[in-house]
Amino acid sequence: MSAQISQALHVAVPATSANLGVGYDCLGLALDVWMRVHAQVADDLVIRGGDERYRNPDNLIWTSYIQMRETLGLSVQPLDITIDSDIPTSGGLGSSAACVVAGILLAQTVEGLPIDIQLSLDVATEIEGHPDNVAPALLGGLVSTFVTDERAYSTRYDVGECLRFVVCAPQYEVRTHEARQVLPESFSLGDVVWQMGRCVAAVHALSSGDAELFGASCDDRLHEPYRKGLIKDYELLRSCALNAGADAFFISGSGSAMVALAASDVQARKVEEALRKSCPDMWIQSLPASLRGAYIHEG
Ligand code: HSE
Repeated sequence: MSAQISQALHVAVPATSANLGVGYDCLGLALDVWMRVHAQVADDLVIRGGDERYRNPDNLIWTSYIQMRETLGLSVQPLDITIDSDIPTSGGLGSSAACVVAGILLAQTVEGLPIDIQLSLDVATEIEGHPDNVAPALLGGLVSTFVTDERAYSTRYDVGECLRFVVCAPQYEVRTHEARQVLPESFSLGDVVWQMGRCVAAVHALSSGDAELFGASCDDRLHEPYRKGLIKDYELLRSCALNAGADAFFISGSGSAMVALAASDVQARKVEEALRKSCPDMWIQSLPASLRGAYIHEG
């Protein structure tokens, strides 16, 4: 039995960084910067806040809400939605995944249903096309994923507390669709072996807080060599971050955002300062991982 909630609902969803160097389409972690969505059952759809371009029925929060309602066999109840997000929207920080997760959680909570995490992950993966942003957005922490014909599997880890992710978000966009088209369709056995060992090490390094091991593992062959040319500030920021003491530098998701990994808060501040000097107009923030994933409350 379920009962529709007439009170305002508040959802918070963290930003995410997918791929993390060698984990193309299978690794992602939640970052401590958030999208908040306030929603209430209404007679007609209303969308306030956020980017003006998305205040229409194609809004991803709304379309994901509809898809989850339909999956649950529920009618589509219109909502009055207000978006308040600190996640840069130029790409690579999971702003789309945050919308998808917010819509999916609202679809259940409006009906007074408990959140079904596995179903939420499966529907979110279907909508996004890959699980590496939506899984950490839902679960928090570092999440490794794979997908079968039946479902998405996720394995969640905490992230070493000392680690800081110095995020650089240019104002220009890189569209995920285009960034996927520049990738080769196949790789050599040597490249696959190269990647597997590093990917396992990267998971251990992040979960245990071993920045040096992560730095050694962070040498991707599947996507970064093909995508870095799409991000005009990549080479400049990479050398700047590594010279300032970052242990690793990688493209966040499909870009345009990039991340420098620092072993401590002190090191992160030096890296952040150096990056700001190189690109003073860019959104640059040193962030811890968020161990908490999306949550929702009434009132
Ligand atoms: N794994 C996806 C990609 C993430 O790299 O295309 C997109 O944010």
